[in-house]
Amino acid sequence: MTTKHYAAHVAERQRKLETALAAAGFDGLVIQAGAPFTYFSDDQDAPFRPTPHFAHWVPLEGPAHLLHLRPGERPRLARVAPEDYWYEQAPLGNPYWAAHFDLVEVPDVERAWRELAIQGRTAYVGDRPEEATARGILRDALNPTALTARLDWDRAYKSAYEVDQLAAASRAGWRGHLAARRAFQEGASELQIHQAYVEAVGCTDKDLPYESIVGLDEKGAILHYCGKRTTGGGKVLLIDVGAQVNRYASDITRTWVTDKADPAFRELVAGLEKLQLELCALAQPGIPYLELHAAAHHKIGDLLHQAGILKVGGQEALARGVTAPFFPHGLGHFLGIQVHDVGGRQKSPEGGTLPPPPEFPYLRTTRKIEEGQVFTIEPGLYFIEMLLRPHRAGATKELFDWKLVDRLSPHGGIRIEDNVLVTRAGHRNLTREAAAAA
Ligand code: GLY
Ligand code: MN
Ligand code: MN
Repeated sequence: MTTKHYAAHVAERQRKLETALAAAGFDGLVIQAGAPFTYFSDDQDAPFRPTPHFAHWVPLEGPAHLLHLRPGERPRLARVAPEDYWYEQAPLGNPYWAAHFDLVEVPDVERAWRELAIQGRTAYVGDRPEEATARGILRDALNPTALTARLDWDRAYKSAYEVDQLAAASRAGWRGHLAARRAFQEGASELQIHQAYVEAVGCTDKDLPYESIVGLDEKGAILHYCGKRTTGGGKVLLIDVGAQVNRYASDITRTWVTDKADPAFRELVAGLEKLQLELCALAQPGIPYLELHAAAHHKIGDLLHQAGILKVGGQEALARGVTAPFFPHGLGHFLGIQVHDVGGRQKSPEGGTLPPPPEFPYLRTTRKIEEGQVFTIEPGLYFIEMLLRPHRAGATKELFDWKLVDRLSPHGGIRIEDNVLVTRAGHRNLTREAAAAA
């Protein structure tokens, strides 16, 4: 059961909130579920996503709800359930979380605010600060950084309930990945592979945690490729797509090849798979994530050397800046309610930033690895002409086998991405667990 630890999760939220409120000098907090984003000059909204701080407490879908939190009191939740015949207004029923709140149902946001008995110095977190000031919340209490920094910091340490949601999201995502691989092996197009994925997960596109990346052949080299071409018969598939469970995401990438792919590229895929597992094995409390990222560059450099693409080993390749054109993104990021979850570069509970070193400007995770964190480990190796071009002339030109680069470039790229939970002694690979159980 994925919800058995929910009571402990809410109790932990309450405890951590009380510490955060005391440190930031507030008596209470109102979190708003958020308002839909309406396209400019249109009457249509973007798919709604709740304020992440709200989703951290309760997986109640839909906009406008208000959550009022105070030390020593049960959380009060005003659920906005409008009278409306345009959209389905499903009754709440009896969800697993409801018993943990003083829950009231109201027809509109105005009534929701009236249900809250705001007293003392109250902070507001949400996207409608003008609504909060109209109810007497002070300007310096609107999304106050001293408080949100602490809430963001805490979000990096997942409760047992959150781990269960993330593991379930990996299982759902893996189901989709298996169907996608099958479709690819049968010669399907990018669009058909995407459709096989969502069908197997049992969701629509707007339920995905991020737009699917389904790249056949050369499109695999576009890191956030979102096209959906309708011609099939590819020799390589790079597919990066996750699933959501109770607002928690998985973020999974696999690269599959057919026997039409160049044997040298197939060996690169096998090599990247092996080094990805070696990198996962390094994940344990106490070491900076940056060490894993640097190790990834070494290992990718060594793999390129073994394949004959680079003429120097990993250490020298990294020192001479020739692994970066093949691996131009960070090894991974925190994962949770947001796919690129908050706090990866946060310095302390009070806030501040740990910037990445200049040679790795895109690295999202500079924090020390600690028990309870969940992050991705996603090394990649791509043939991106824009990044290779500067090396085709000049000081590093001789370090590459350009003929081999050009032969392999139509295969696009490779990325293998798993979701990893840090435990006291090491880690759990949630994605590989899901694969083993499938
Ligand atoms: N799916 C985006 C990423 O892997 O970060
Ligand atoms: Mn990722
Ligand atoms: Mn991804």
